Amino acid sequence: MDEPRAWWKEAVVYQIYPRSFADSNGDGIGDLNGITAHLDYLHELGVDVIWVSPFYKSPNDDNGYDISDYRDIMDEFGTMEDFDRMLEGIHQRGMRLLIDLVVNHSSDEHPWFVESRKSRDNPYRDYYIWRDGKGDAPPNNWGSCFSGSAWQYDETTGQWYLHLFSRKQPDLNWANPKVRDAVFDMMTWWCDKGIDGFRMDVIGMIGKENFDDGEVGPGALYGSFEKSCQHTATTHRYLRMMRERVLDHYDLLTVGEAGGTVEQGIQYAGLDGSELNMIFSFEHNDGLNDGTELGKWSDHGAPLNEFREIMNRWQLGLIGKAWNTVYLSNHDQPRQVSRYGNDGPLFRVRSAKMLATLIHMMHGTPYIYNGEELGMTNICFTRLEDYRDVEVFNAWKQWVESGRVHPEDMMRWFARISRDNARTPMQWDSSPNAGFTTGTPWIRVNGNYPDVNAADEMKDPDSVFNYYKKLIALRHEHLIIVYGNYIPMLNDDPNVYAYRRELDGETLTVCCNWTDRTVPCTLIDEAGGEELISNYRFHKPGLLQPYEARVVLKK
Ligand code: NOJ
Repeated sequence: MDEPRAWWKEAVVYQIYPRSFADSNGDGIGDLNGITAHLDYLHELGVDVIWVSPFYKSPNDDNGYDISDYRDIMDEFGTMEDFDRMLEGIHQRGMRLLIDLVVNHSSDEHPWFVESRKSRDNPYRDYYIWRDGKGDAPPNNWGSCFSGSAWQYDETTGQWYLHLFSRKQPDLNWANPKVRDAVFDMMTWWCDKGIDGFRMDVIGMIGKENFDDGEVGPGALYGSFEKSCQHTATTHRYLRMMRERVLDHYDLLTVGEAGGTVEQGIQYAGLDGSELNMIFSFEHNDGLNDGTELGKWSDHGAPLNEFREIMNRWQLGLIGKAWNTVYLSNHDQPRQVSRYGNDGPLFRVRSAKMLATLIHMMHGTPYIYNGEELGMTNICFTRLEDYRDVEVFNAWKQWVESGRVHPEDMMRWFARISRDNARTPMQWDSSPNAGFTTGTPWIRVNGNYPDVNAADEMKDPDSVFNYYKKLIALRHEHLIIVYGNYIPMLNDDPNVYAYRRELDGETLTVCCNWTDRTVPCTLIDEAGGEELISNYRFHKPGLLQPYEARVVLKK
């Protein structure tokens, strides 16, 4: 075996969106004690690492991705004592904790920004990015990721500040060494508390190199900031500093939320360990769209040929050079069974298992998003007032209120692809509100919880939950699943996603039917060997049944 072993390569990570996971005090909002109360569930599932999305003090403009105190806990989520108890519970069960590091921006209610906006000569002025406008217009043409200009005018000092996300998320000025020191000190403080890693929010954006106008695509309202602030040499320099100052002193899992190309992925997550352990690529999620100025808001599905081309490119591109993550879901994406599989009554379970097989047998550390292991589905709200996400409301303002997009189109796209689909409460059991809260949930519970919930699935040997449990156990048992190479198979097959892994004389063959039809496939029969897992008990020679997944190991 060529690849050096590491615990974070062999691990499976489980992401918790704390607001929606479990509410322990009846206020309708999930909290840290809710997580602690369900650690046995996660231990039973078999995951190694728990990533908890931001739980720090925040006014919640973007559900905690707008932090007003990096060293304190959000009021709704509990106290630092609750955090300590959660961490202890995680460690007692032999699991580890990954925390979110959101330092491209803070909240505008962070004391640094409160000071910074007071006067042009305030000692904290340079903690953020302030510029003069061009007459009455913003300093440049950049659009924010959440629609509208990326600049906000501030009357107190007559200047504009940069916010690549909402206007309540001003970008920190990493060019200021005081900002870097403050971030590195804060990271060290959490490491000394005993956390086991960082998931780094939009880390590819921290190194702003210039503030030139960006390219304006056809039909776009704003220019792109890509060239000036995405994946710059300056960002890589800051990450190397971070490694030296903080990361090298602890045994951590580091994962950058970065996106970009395969080549950029290799730069961030190279095996030389000079920056991060791994990154999240975005292409297989965000790249599947119509390529218009509307970005993700489209009817574009997930055709096998497009999806497979992207996944194969990342698998082949990184092996031997860097380390992959493999995932389909998180709090920024709709539910995977609704997007890539089939969430109707006939095929929800089969297709959820097929997608899980496809991902968990690939090269890279798998990430499971809470509820995915139950096959939870999109809620598909039909009324705007049911949504909670700032991204939705800003997009509505930019595209619908301005008359550019028909409301019906936008509502259909929201229902298909918006982030709130993945943020509905975790479905624990069939009691009211799915056992998530005794109060009024902050966002509606998906009505299918009597049929889709953890309590029932844990008892059912054929459930999606028990299938995930088996997949995770297989990863712990077979080094080939972690360290094997990757060979794409049946590349032109219109229905089947197939690949092989090889390690030290063993061969693992994986065949997944991406469709709701029975289709021809002989590869898996020909491969021979022992069946490790399948979502069907009985197979048909030469055929794969709807959404059938099969994995065989030949020694
Ligand atoms: C990426 C996070 O995953 C997303 O939820 C958030 O809105 C943005 N970064 C801004 O922090």
